[in-house]
Parts: sequence; structure tokens; C-alpha cells
Amino acid sequence: MESQMMAASIDGYGPPEVITVRAAPIPVPRAGEVRVRVAAAAVTSGDARIRAARFPRGFGFLARLGIGVRRPRAKVPGVVFSGRVEQLGEGVTSFALGDQVAGMTGGRFGAHAEQVVVPATALAGKPDAVSHVDAAGILFGGTAALHFLRDRARVGAGQSVLVNGGSGSVGSSAVQLARHFGATVTAISSVGNHPLLQKLGAQQVVDYRSTPVASLEERFDAVFDAVGNVRRAQGLRLLNPGGSLILAVASLWETVSARGRVFAGPAPERSEDFAFLLDLVARGVLDPLVETVGGLDALPEAHRRIDTGRKIGNLVILPHAA
Ligand SMILES: NC(=O)c1ccc[n+]([C@@H]2O[C@H](COP(=O)([O-])OP(=O)(O)OC[C@H]3O[C@@H](n4cnc5c(N)ncnc54)[C@H](OP(=O)(O)O)[C@@H]3O)[C@@H](O)[C@H]2O)c1
Repeated sequence: MESQMMAASIDGYGPPEVITVRAAPIPVPRAGEVRVRVAAAAVTSGDARIRAARFPRGFGFLARLGIGVRRPRAKVPGVVFSGRVEQLGEGVTSFALGDQVAGMTGGRFGAHAEQVVVPATALAGKPDAVSHVDAAGILFGGTAALHFLRDRARVGAGQSVLVNGGSGSVGSSAVQLARHFGATVTAISSVGNHPLLQKLGAQQVVDYRSTPVASLEERFDAVFDAVGNVRRAQGLRLLNPGGSLILAVASLWETVSARGRVFAGPAPERSEDFAFLLDLVARGVLDPLVETVGGLDALPEAHRRIDTGRKIGNLVILPHAA
């Protein structure tokens, strides 16, 4: 069996050009783990944050302690992937060789490679009706939107939701999930993305250039900030009584002081949530809004696009593409 694969590497925090592609040992699953041949991997705003060591206000020191002080401690970046089970660690019975799966690596990273090893509990079976590209595309924004809308704010039928940044990865999932849960949706983006937001289900659209969030007169049952430019006090003013403020991007202070109807902090990576989202994609309820950028060599280009802050939906690479 081959012992080497191609994988991305980040030798130090910096611009997209710090990402290189080189040969690396194929990781070996330990007890309870699975090795997956990565058919598709998402390139996310989270990946770009880590590459640039660009964290929300107050998190810089803590984040570097967690992921590496001078360079990322993990040898291979990348979190979200979809692929085929190629090797089972001792004791794994939930998956078999050849199964099609999708998942997230959490803090161990390693998805921007031809092969990745994760705990079996970090995987969900991929329905045949969902492509690897769509599966990899949906999980990053989808898990965040699902956690905040369903599990924290408990958004339901008849409620009104404002999504700031509706055309990005988290925002596009938030718009669609809020509609799926029966809410009416107002979404904010630049004017060029308004037709897309309407296609995703937003009943009202707002252009942030002509109508800054602070100037909105309407009030909502939930305000979901997926950009990071809505301050807590501003967001609270936009709420109906009893409404929820979701700060998907929050400073350290906003995160530790979030209580009551203010929600912030990291969304969990749970296989049952992956399965929930993949099922919605399979049924055509959720459009993952994916663009394939290329192979591992396209990672710097994907990061440059994320760094513009104007990415639409989700970017995916195919690690085995030439
Ligand atoms: N808490 C968590 O667990 C969690 C999980 C995932 C992500 N996040 C965070 O959520 C944030 C969003 O992530 P993402 O991947 O969705 O980002 P993204 O895909 O890069 O978002 C880009 C989108 O933001 C829109 N945008 C830019 N400036 C805007 C503005 N001033 N007002 C409204 N929309 C604007 C852009 O629309 P236009 O082109 O129309 O401007 C673009 O479509 C990131 O900071 C990420 O770290 C948090």
C-alpha cells in the first residue's frame, strides 16, 4: 500500500501564499478512528481565519494558544470533507470499507489532503442523492446556522428573522433553514446578491450600502449576524420583545457576556446535525450553493476569494484532481 499522499501545509501565519502542497505520510487510524479518501473538501472562512491568524476582537491570544503560537500546530489544514471510507481503526463497527461519508475534523484538522483520519463519531453517511461536492459544501455554514436557529433561538413558524450576510456560507444556510422552519426572512447583502437571496427564500432584501443595519425601522423575532458588524446594542434594538440576537461572529467580550436571548460562541460539530443537513440537501430543501475551485493547488486562490469578504456560498476543492 502507498504510504504517501499529497496534502496542504501552512508553515506560518500569513497571506494565502503561505499555503503549499507537498507529499505527507498517509495518516493511520487508531482505535475508534476511520481513514477517509477525501473526494471534496470545503475551503471556509474558518480556514482563512486560521491561516491569517485573524480572529474576532479579544480572541487572538487564546486562539493562538489553542491552534499554535507561531504557526498552526496541525500539519495539514482543512476541516470539512466528504469521501469514501478506506480504512477502519480497531473497534469501528458503525461504518464499513467503501461507505460514502461526510464530516468535520474539529481541532485536529487535516481535510485539505487526499486522505484524512477522524473519529468514527465525526462522520455521517452521505446519501447517494447528494454529491461529495454538495456534502462538503453544506456542513460548515449549515452546522452553524442550524445550531443557532434551531437549537439556541428556537426559530419556528410565523416568526420573523433578519439575516445579515445572507449570501455567505453561514448566511445562505440561515436564510434557507429559517424558511424551512416556517419563519419569514429578511436578508441583507449587496444589491448584486439580492436575486440570489430571493431564490433562496428571502421575502425581503436589504442593501447594506443604501440601508445600514442601524437605520432599519422594522423589528424581528430573531436577528442573525453572520458578518460581525452588528454590535450587541444595535442588534438588541432590532428585536421584538422576547426576540433572539445571534452573533455568529462575536468578540471575546460579547461571547462571554452572551446570556438570556443573546447567543454567541462556537457551533458544535455533531454527526446527527450533518445527517440532518445532508437529508435536506437530498430532498432539495437546502441548496448548498457550492463552487468548485480546483485541486489542492487552488487553495491559495480559494483563500484569496474568502479574504475579499465577498464570497458567495461555499467553495470546495477536489484533492485528487490533477
Ligand atoms: N460561531 C460559529 O460557530 C461560526 C461558524 C461558522 C462561521 N462563523 C463565522 O461567521 C462569519 C461568516 O462566515 P461565512 O463563512 O458565512 O463568511 P463568508 O461566506 O465569507 O461571507 C461572505 C458574505 O458576506 C457578505 N457581506 C460582506 N460584507 C457585508 C456587510 N457589510 N453586510 C452584509 N453582508 C456582507 C457578502 O455579501 P456581499 O458580497 O453581497 O457583500 C458575502 O456573500 C465568519 O466570521 C465566521 O468566522 C462562526
